[in-house]
Amino acid sequence: MSGARILDGRALSAELRAGIVTEVEELRAEGLVPGLAVVLVGDDPASAVYVSMKARACHKAGMTDRTVRLPADISRDDLFDRIDALNADPAIHGILVQLPLPPHLDPKAVLERIRPEKDVDGFHPLNVGRTFVGDYAHGFAPATPAGIVELLRHHDIHTHGRHVVVVGRSLIVGKPLAALMGAPGFNATITLTHRHTRGLAAITRMADILVVVVGKPKLITRDMVKPGATVIDVGISRIGGEGADDKPRVVGDVDFEAVREVAGAITPVPGGVGPMTITMLMRNTLEAALRIHRGSHRPVLAGTA
Ligand code: GUN
Repeated sequence: MSGARILDGRALSAELRAGIVTEVEELRAEGLVPGLAVVLVGDDPASAVYVSMKARACHKAGMTDRTVRLPADISRDDLFDRIDALNADPAIHGILVQLPLPPHLDPKAVLERIRPEKDVDGFHPLNVGRTFVGDYAHGFAPATPAGIVELLRHHDIHTHGRHVVVVGRSLIVGKPLAALMGAPGFNATITLTHRHTRGLAAITRMADILVVVVGKPKLITRDMVKPGATVIDVGISRIGGEGADDKPRVVGDVDFEAVREVAGAITPVPGGVGPMTITMLMRNTLEAALRIHRGSHRPVLAGTA
C-alpha cells in the first residue's frame, strides 16, 4: 500500500462547479446568460469527445453552449468568417477552437483571429502575454494550468521556493504552467523539459512537484520520482481493447501503481487534472461574460505560494 495522497480532480471539480452554477443562476435572473462556442474542425474522434464534454458541462451549468462543426477541408478564410461571426455575437462570451487543427490551417493565425476578450482558452498572444506578466484580471490563464493550480491550492501544496519540473512544453500546458509557477504569487523554481532534454530522469528526480504532459504511457517510472514529491499527470492515452481480457482504458504518462508508492501526492488518470480543465474553462467563460457585460475584472487565478 502506498502513502501517496490521491489528488481527486472529480471531487474538487464538483465543488467548484457548484459555485459556478450558483453564480450563473444569479446572472440568469438578471438576464445575463454566459455563452461558450466550441469550434471543431474535422472529425478527429478524440477531439469530438472533448468538445462534447465541454459543451455538455457548460449546458449543465446553465450556460449557452454552441458547438460549431466544420468540415476538415474548410478554407482559412471561411473559418475566419465563422470566428468573426462568433466574435460579434452578443450571446457568445467565450470562443474555443479545438486543437489540433487540420495541417493546412495555421493554429497561430486561427488563435489570433479570436477576440482576446472571448479567448477563454488563453491562447491568443495577448492572453499568453498577460499570463506571463501575471495579469489574471484582464487575461485568461489556460484551463489546464489553472486546474493544476487549483488542485495544488486545495490540497495545501505550496510552490514557494520549491522546484517544479515540467515535462512537455506545449502552448496548452507546459509553457503557460512554467510561466505561472515562476511568477510572483507562486515563486517556484522552474525547469521546463521536452523531447530534446538529455538526462531526463536526473532532472525529474530533483522535482518537488513533477508535472508531466507528453502522451506516452509509463514514461515516468518509480525511479524517476523523488520520495515524497507531488506528481501531476496530464497525459491522456487510450490503450488496450485488443482482446476480450484487454478492456480499452485511458492512462496517463505516469506508471501510477509503482509511482504512488514513493510519491507524496499524485493525480489519477482519469479523474485528476481532466475534470479540472473543463471546470476552469467554465470559470473563464463566466468571467468573460462578467468582463464584457459588467466591466468586472476579478482575477481568474491567485497564487499558491
Ligand atoms: N486540445 C487539447 N487541449 C485543448 C484545450 O485546452 N483547448 C483547445 N482549444 N484545444 C485543446
